[in-house]
Amino acid sequence: MARSKNGSDDPAAGTAGLSDPTFGVRHVAIIMDGNGRWAKRKHLPRALGHKKGVEAVRNIVRTAGEMGVEVMTLYAFSSENWSRPEEEVSDLMGLLRQYIQSDIEEFVQNGVRLKVIGNYRALDGDIVAMIDNAIERTAQNSKMTLAVALNYGAQDEMLRAVRHLAERVGEGELDPQAIGLDDIANALDTADLPPLDLLIRTSGELRLSNFLLWQAAYSELYFTDALWPDFDKAELEKAFQSFGHRERRFGGR
Ligand code: IPE
Ligand code: IPE
Ligand code: MG
Repeated sequence: MARSKNGSDDPAAGTAGLSDPTFGVRHVAIIMDGNGRWAKRKHLPRALGHKKGVEAVRNIVRTAGEMGVEVMTLYAFSSENWSRPEEEVSDLMGLLRQYIQSDIEEFVQNGVRLKVIGNYRALDGDIVAMIDNAIERTAQNSKMTLAVALNYGAQDEMLRAVRHLAERVGEGELDPQAIGLDDIANALDTADLPPLDLLIRTSGELRLSNFLLWQAAYSELYFTDALWPDFDKAELEKAFQSFGHRERRFGGR
């Protein structure tokens, strides 16, 4: 069957939305930005902005599952976020602990498979253990994959991939001239995920901030002024609708 312009195999794709609320988006990623500005506007401490941000995560993960999204990748903590004041980093790590603890049962029940991208093993030992436990407990789930980017930077991800391939070359397993695009893709943290269809950034900033630089080669980009704590089901629907109107060409004509 011919693929429609929004990538869906659905014959009713012309009326997409009625039949598919995701408009053909299998994999959506979000740069969840604007917690600090949300708090500032309300004259609240930044920590409360991050707390509201976690509520928005909980809500959007549920919504994405209900809408039939296959993979949702969320940028939660970048490899550059360590440069924030110690107190803020510690607030964010505290919220991460709470989030995993309180939501793991819901993931198990709702068929959500948890995955982490980024060098998360550099986080505090108790968080690493919690994450490994949650990954193991949800490994067989297949309704949706929630990929959380923790201590993630796309350049760091590519650096780790290059090292991995160089090691294989060093061991005589791989011929440098035979390295293909697939070898690189398979060495990235996202190796087991489908192509990234749509990349959303909230809070009005028009940059990628070191997120999924390889994977976003042909992704559709969507920027909204909504601050992350205000990003809800209606906002996600708007992003999917926008995706539904895009003509994806992948360099062809
Ligand atoms: C996003 O909100 C959360 C993280 C980066 C962890 P910010 O904390 O970046 O909020 P702004 O950009 O200062 O408003
Ligand atoms: C990107 O937001 C990282 C996350 C959302 C986790 P930042 O707020 O860190 O990005 P910059 O500093 O504005 O580029
Ligand atoms: Mg920010």
